[in-house]
Amino acid sequence: MRARKIGVLTGGGDCPGLNAVIRAIVRKGVQEYGYEFVGFRDGWRGPLENDSVRLDIPAVRGILPRGGTILGSSRTNPLQVENGIRRVKENLADEEVEALIVIGGEDTLGVAARLADDYGINVVGVPKTIDNDLSATDYTFGFNTAVGIATEAIDRLHTTAESHMRVLVVEVMGRHAGWIALHSGLAGGANVILIPEQRFDIEQVCAWVTSRFTSSYAPIVVVAEGAMPRDGDLVLKDESLDSFGHVRLSGVGEWLAKQIEKRTGKEARTTVLGHVQRGGTPSAFDRWLATRFGLHAIEAVRDGDFGKMVALQGTDIVRVPIADATARLKTVDPALYEEVGVFFG
Ligand code: F6P
Repeated sequence: MRARKIGVLTGGGDCPGLNAVIRAIVRKGVQEYGYEFVGFRDGWRGPLENDSVRLDIPAVRGILPRGGTILGSSRTNPLQVENGIRRVKENLADEEVEALIVIGGEDTLGVAARLADDYGINVVGVPKTIDNDLSATDYTFGFNTAVGIATEAIDRLHTTAESHMRVLVVEVMGRHAGWIALHSGLAGGANVILIPEQRFDIEQVCAWVTSRFTSSYAPIVVVAEGAMPRDGDLVLKDESLDSFGHVRLSGVGEWLAKQIEKRTGKEARTTVLGHVQRGGTPSAFDRWLATRFGLHAIEAVRDGDFGKMVALQGTDIVRVPIADATARLKTVDPALYEEVGVFFG
């Protein structure tokens, strides 16, 4: 009998651990269930243009610790392309793909939810994003690695800030949610942490910065790229939109340093961590989580449990409707932010 064929794709911004998921899916799927796999290239562009590669066990050897994704990624949105969904359906049928495992964040999984609910395509989702802003899962893989990188950067910036007694502003990723800023800022002993969920008062930020100079330590301000001043808007470098309608963020760190210099008279510099947070090898935790997500995703396929996403709840991997994860973002609770605020200033 012909083996069942399963498709896999990775979409949206890449993050450490994607390869670990692919490896786990293929290893378990081939070894235990005798499936065949096809990897679609560059997120939704693959099934849209029928661009795929064969995924077998030799193809996934050695990729566990590798950052990025062997399948490539993109922010292609088939819902925005003429006849996009029809083309995806036809190409999956041409390839005789019976189920598709979609590894992605809010946008990529949003498309997966539509395909499952409105078009009856057999889809299983795996949550990924360094931002950790997907509901229904306690953590996404990639987040722990990003927090580790940001924390190490903050540790390093403390010593240079103190040598020159200047302010160092660290801009980290986090479009709608301040999880990376909050976790790395707390772990790195930042004096100010600014997140998208809470508009900040620049006067208050300057007061915290100034109070730090009364000690022999220099202030570190950690700001998420999506953080906004109370009386202003997102600080942007350019206004261009991706195919999911998102603007490119970054710029708030530079803006803050200028404001701090102007208002406090203290020298201030900015470090934008950018894609360093997304690149390179995954942490041990992310390898563990990504691998378990992969194992459970292929089990969901085997059970025919489609339209679901694997999720971490406590220490268990569970299945939830994909729509539950994409309907609303998981943002930082004001009470949690307040708890961390004891270290500001
Ligand atoms: O969605 C994850 C994320 O890391 C955001 O925090 C960030 O705004 C975005 O990706 C940047 O992605 P890119 O540079 O690939 O467009």
